[in-house]
Amino acid sequence: MEKFKRYTITAALPYANGPLHLGHMAGVYLPADIYVRYLRSKKREVVFICGSDEHGVPITIKARKEGVTPQEVVDKYHSLIEKTFGDFGITFDIYSRTSLPIHHETAREFFTDIFNKNGFIEKTTQQFFDVKAQLFLADRYITGKCPKCGYDKAYGDQCESCGVSLNPTDLIKPISTLSNKPPVLKETSHWFLPLDKFQSRLEQWILEEHKEWKSNVYGQCKSWLNQGLEPRAVTRDLDWGVKVPLENAKGKVLYVWFEAPIGYISATKEWAKLRAEKTKTSSVTLPENNHNELSEVKSDNVVSVQTPDDWKKYWLDKDTRLIHFIGKDNIVFHCIIFPAILMAHGDYIFPDNVPANEFLNLEGEKLSTSRNWAVWLHEYLEDFPGKADVLRYVLCINAPENKDNDFTWKDFQARNNNELCAILGNFVNRVFVLTYKFFNGLVPEKGAPDNSDKKIISEIALFPEKIADSIENFKFRDALMLVMDLARAGNKYLAETEPWKVYKENPARAGTILYYALQVCANLAILTEPFMPVISDKILGLVNIPLPAWESAGKIDLLNAGLKINPPVLLFEKIEDDVIHALVERLKVGK
Ligand code: MF3
Ligand code: ZN
Repeated sequence: MEKFKRYTITAALPYANGPLHLGHMAGVYLPADIYVRYLRSKKREVVFICGSDEHGVPITIKARKEGVTPQEVVDKYHSLIEKTFGDFGITFDIYSRTSLPIHHETAREFFTDIFNKNGFIEKTTQQFFDVKAQLFLADRYITGKCPKCGYDKAYGDQCESCGVSLNPTDLIKPISTLSNKPPVLKETSHWFLPLDKFQSRLEQWILEEHKEWKSNVYGQCKSWLNQGLEPRAVTRDLDWGVKVPLENAKGKVLYVWFEAPIGYISATKEWAKLRAEKTKTSSVTLPENNHNELSEVKSDNVVSVQTPDDWKKYWLDKDTRLIHFIGKDNIVFHCIIFPAILMAHGDYIFPDNVPANEFLNLEGEKLSTSRNWAVWLHEYLEDFPGKADVLRYVLCINAPENKDNDFTWKDFQARNNNELCAILGNFVNRVFVLTYKFFNGLVPEKGAPDNSDKKIISEIALFPEKIADSIENFKFRDALMLVMDLARAGNKYLAETEPWKVYKENPARAGTILYYALQVCANLAILTEPFMPVISDKILGLVNIPLPAWESAGKIDLLNAGLKINPPVLLFEKIEDDVIHALVERLKVGK
């Protein structure tokens, strides 16, 4: 028996202040999507939630720089990001945004609920104020000399030269970046969540009850907890964000890290509302997501939403398994602060796992948006139209699962040419070419299996479970390597049995070999789907069947003798040196 009835899967809400790059995809969205596609293939009930994070200081800075409103900034990037996700086959059930009224209401209700339970402490502190702009200054709007290394452009929260974290009052000769004048200290009051009160519950819940979390995640939590938690302000003096729902809080908004994670809940509400409406007005089964065509698997998917209130099942019900996919810079917010918020509220379930990834570097250097050291996903698709799956493959096989990892264009080329083309593409292609050549594109009859057949039959049977096991343990690289191992086994089987030679003497024997080789192809369609959905779809187009569910993987009768299959098409193309060379050059020039 499954321990959980259903899954709520979230992927970190990206800030809507810039396009998505490789690091986002490798660290968060690809693993989340692989996991969700797998769950759907297993016919588990799952909702996959994401949306744009549209508040916070960086968005206001960007707007100021570009001379537009923050709303204009987030509108622009929200659409671009949503499109990019669609183009890479990321199958969210909903891609929402935190500027929607439903989110503002939900976040305010959360704050009010905790406030009414006396869950906050109100404290008055001194903060820097820009007299000319008549604004309290967010830490990032203040620069000055670093007290540690003397760098004179340190920010109010951190010195980018020596890395030390700072309070704005630590800076020597602080300057407001809005007016270029020294700011003054002024009193302001804020609401703090007393994290220290949750310390022992968090310790018990994480350190004792979730020893199975990834070591990078567990380790970070442990070190935060060992340092001792302190009250954290959950409000800010800012005019962009969710207004604090109190009389005496003019000009204050909820801190973005207080309200953004609540965005997962608001998005689920919005999704349930839309779905309930659709269920009411139509009797046809609905697609589970707004990006992808329905497949056999997805139309079977068992998501039951009848009323808008059904969002509650996904957040309140102990039978629901909540999993947050995030990057490592988000660990403290998802493992400590958000759960503390949920504890303060009281009704909600906690994440059962938070499989955070480390960072992906680019050509040996840290990705940097400001230095334009990045590969932007929408630009990748301009360079390699229709090849989203190649990047999905490379980012998964090289994912920064346990340590930072490096993306290089040379490695991308090598993986495409030596793995996708030479192993997977080559295998499928040979099977189809031979079936067309000798059997007119009809699945041949199978005869009694000999030893090499028995070997491939047992491999077909064993791989799905090993792959499933890796996926369920968030080891997506291992899982994908196993998928490739099955393709390798297929190539080896052909090399050993040589159906092209055997055919002259014994056509029936050649038929048996191709029969099993074709079953490998059909199995590969199921097993590649979570990782490379377009490629899976191409293989399905070749073998002429709809996508079978995961439970069918391992079988050797997915394609019946006599079934007409389609003529070979190439799944992958080689990428030449000059293409790669040009990309590396462009990267260096852009810097
Ligand atoms: N916008 C944040 C980031 O990109 C992630 C927010 S996740 C959420 O780092 F939980 F707050 F929504
Ligand atoms: Zn410094």
